[in-house]
Amino acid sequence: MTDQSTPYVPVPTRRPRRLRSSPAMRELVSETVLRPADLILPMFIADGIDAPREISSMPGVHQHTLDSLKRAAHEALEAGVRCVDLFGVPRDEDKDAEGTPSCNPDGVLNHALAAMREEFGDDLLIMADTCLDEFTDHGHCGVVRQDRWGRAVVDNDATLELYQQMSVAQADAGAHIISPSGMMDGQILAIREALDAAGHEDVSIMAYSAKYASAFYGPFREAVGSSLEGDRRTYQQDPANVRESLLEAELDVEEGADFIMVKPAMPYLDVLRAVAEASPVPVAAYQVSGEYAMLQAAARNGWLDLEAVMMESLTSIKRAGANQILTYFATDAARVLNNRR
Ligand code: PBG
Repeated sequence: MTDQSTPYVPVPTRRPRRLRSSPAMRELVSETVLRPADLILPMFIADGIDAPREISSMPGVHQHTLDSLKRAAHEALEAGVRCVDLFGVPRDEDKDAEGTPSCNPDGVLNHALAAMREEFGDDLLIMADTCLDEFTDHGHCGVVRQDRWGRAVVDNDATLELYQQMSVAQADAGAHIISPSGMMDGQILAIREALDAAGHEDVSIMAYSAKYASAFYGPFREAVGSSLEGDRRTYQQDPANVRESLLEAELDVEEGADFIMVKPAMPYLDVLRAVAEASPVPVAAYQVSGEYAMLQAAARNGWLDLEAVMMESLTSIKRAGANQILTYFATDAARVLNNRR
């Protein structure tokens, strides 16, 4: 005979749900806190346009005129963002094999850097993208030459000399942070030496240390009107690898990087975690154009809740180890954070 009245008595076990029981409890135990000041806004300044131009594969992101650039930067600052990263978009007819407008004080990027420093002083940090691909007619990040087998190769050391001139021109214009994104070997040391020799010891360097040859940069190529044919696989990293990210990061720190970066972010959170665990300097992550585009596209189809996935993706990037996050969502995400308080 069975005793029907015996109640079910659960074995006393750990009950993780106790710590999820209310908003107050969840906030009490939250391990990852995103702040507006963690976010860096990448922005595009274009030559020869008289009104801002929306980038079709990046809804809400524009090629700016100087006026609209300043306005958008003021909005970011008001939301609590403390740093913007400027990319220049020269006119096609000004591009050449060596990316000459990158070093010209009147070139579109240097001119905008000066105007932004003038406008914001030290309230908003002005970071400059230090790379030739926006300025070269072939779209590569460095000087292209033929090797002895007739192959076109990007010449590492000839490129370093141009990066030195470009970074000094950017620092002269008023950039607080130089961010070399070209993945040439030795670029951090070369740039540090050039900056110091020019009296720019106080200008810092954010090194794109672990930058992968990624298809997630697709929309960026539209954003800067890139002329690239082919790919960057002889200088950017293979998505299959993680060890070389640790080596790249270590070399960059030895060469004098003040920050290092992992890019892209979401598909490379394991790399970010590994680099963050080993790094003695702050580690940034770049949520790139394709990551932005894919969340926007799904949201536009009604398939994802944009605000929710934006905040979840940024929280996840921070949880994986990022101290700073470059993201086209910076102003929007900062506003969401402000409204939560
Ligand atoms: C190169 C550069 C790229 C990006 C930033 N700097 C493109 C590339 O390496 O091909 C991509 C950024 C993005 O996709 O948001 N100067």
